Amino acid sequence: MCGLSLVMATINLSSGQPPENLLPYDLVQNAANNLLSGKVSMGHSSPPLAYGDHYDYFSKRIASFLKIESGRESVDSELIVPIAGVSNGLDLICTMLCRNLTRRGVAFVEDSTYFLSISLLEDHGLLVLPLPTDSDGILIEEFRRILQKLKEDDSLVPLLLYCIPTFHNPTGRTMPRTRRIQLLDLTQEYSLNVVADEVYQFLGFTEYLPFNLILDPKPNTSLTIQSSYPSFASISPSYDHVMSISSFSKILGPGLRVGWIEFTSHRQKNLFDSLGVIKSGSSICHFSSYVAVTSIMCPDDLIPGSFSVDNESQSWRDSCPFRTHLNALRTSLALKYSTLISSLQRYQLEYLSPCDSTHEFIIEGHPRLSSRENPEFSVVGGYFIWIYLPEWIGDSESEEDGEKKRKVMTSIEFLDVSRSPPYDLSFMLGATCRTLNSSPHVSRRYPYRETIRLCFAKLEIRELEEGAKRLCQLLKDLQPTGPAEKG
Ligand SMILES: Cc1ncc(COP(=O)(O)O)c(C=O)c1O
Repeated sequence: MCGLSLVMATINLSSGQPPENLLPYDLVQNAANNLLSGKVSMGHSSPPLAYGDHYDYFSKRIASFLKIESGRESVDSELIVPIAGVSNGLDLICTMLCRNLTRRGVAFVEDSTYFLSISLLEDHGLLVLPLPTDSDGILIEEFRRILQKLKEDDSLVPLLLYCIPTFHNPTGRTMPRTRRIQLLDLTQEYSLNVVADEVYQFLGFTEYLPFNLILDPKPNTSLTIQSSYPSFASISPSYDHVMSISSFSKILGPGLRVGWIEFTSHRQKNLFDSLGVIKSGSSICHFSSYVAVTSIMCPDDLIPGSFSVDNESQSWRDSCPFRTHLNALRTSLALKYSTLISSLQRYQLEYLSPCDSTHEFIIEGHPRLSSRENPEFSVVGGYFIWIYLPEWIGDSESEEDGEKKRKVMTSIEFLDVSRSPPYDLSFMLGATCRTLNSSPHVSRRYPYRETIRLCFAKLEIRELEEGAKRLCQLLKDLQPTGPAEKG
């Protein structure tokens, strides 16, 4: 191999962390100071260092934030509870739903999904089953068939669907409204709880993309371009089986460990309140939850006695420092995303045979390089780019091909784990984001190509360019000697 620049250390495209230079320490510090010095008016809510028995201050501000940020008409603050991040929220919901199970519960997830959610669900003894997806999300008829089949198995009980509807991890996809409604209708019909992980819902940046990014000129008409997407829980009051969980991890800082659950019924909220851990300790993250919501407020609203949802909505857009921060975050993500995409496109052309589709990799949502069925451009946001590796890696019909594939995947895995020179590149293998459970209930009929997940959020522009170059060089060095080999 040749031509690799060795000046940069390992390029870590695998870690899904926020960019360090955009963690707003000043906002959080001011908020903590204001809270601790008693400058903030919080009505009848528990003071910041007491037990959080009454956390109205938190719920009302989250309701107001959701209302303004995602353009909703109204948000019921009584259905919002604080949690210590999405992970904690999912764990608490599982505890809540698994309490009186007499049979083994089944949790459905998208194939592929957030890799750490799988072990979290399994911690509760749940059987985690993958659902086939396309570029719009879960395939409804496949899901229906699986649910129908499960009815014949009296050792299992379908308990919940865990999904990531907006700027999905790892694929980056956003589920269009029609698919959301179909999914909610189906799950309601089968009395299945839906837990929507909305951790990236405020990180849409289609509008912030630089001009030079070559995109399909026809936006997918079933998706609206927005920077913040309304939660799954807000789709319609006729669904009371949905719980949306979100957090400040990607928009303020994960170290705060603050998020919220938005329930769709008081029945669910009461079940949550009756958990032992909530009865004993009250709000799970009382102080930090107050710090988080105070950080996103406009300074004017901190004046004692001035807080009201309406006041906040008036001053929010123009003068709120958090808004400036959020816009800077989206602008930065848009630039990083477009850098990685255009660098991948450039080095793909340079290093891999552009005329031979078996040598090409496909970027999810990017039709110019794609031969997939649904080639429309979709909205972009979140942290990740999902890549389908060249066909010669995934296809292994013959024994010889199978052997080749194993060698290639072992090399990739080896590089991934050891970050060995000369590539010094780390990314996440798609297989990490899949549950290994196979089940007679789940078919494997849908096509599968080897995949990798690249996170562009944390790295600098130069590192992203270099990472794309190293990845294409790696694929070039691993590919079979000529198209003829593939037949
Ligand atoms: C889809 C998804 N859910 C949840 C989390 C973790 O969220 P939190 O820090 O709020 O627990 C992540 C973090 O990478 C994620 O990508």
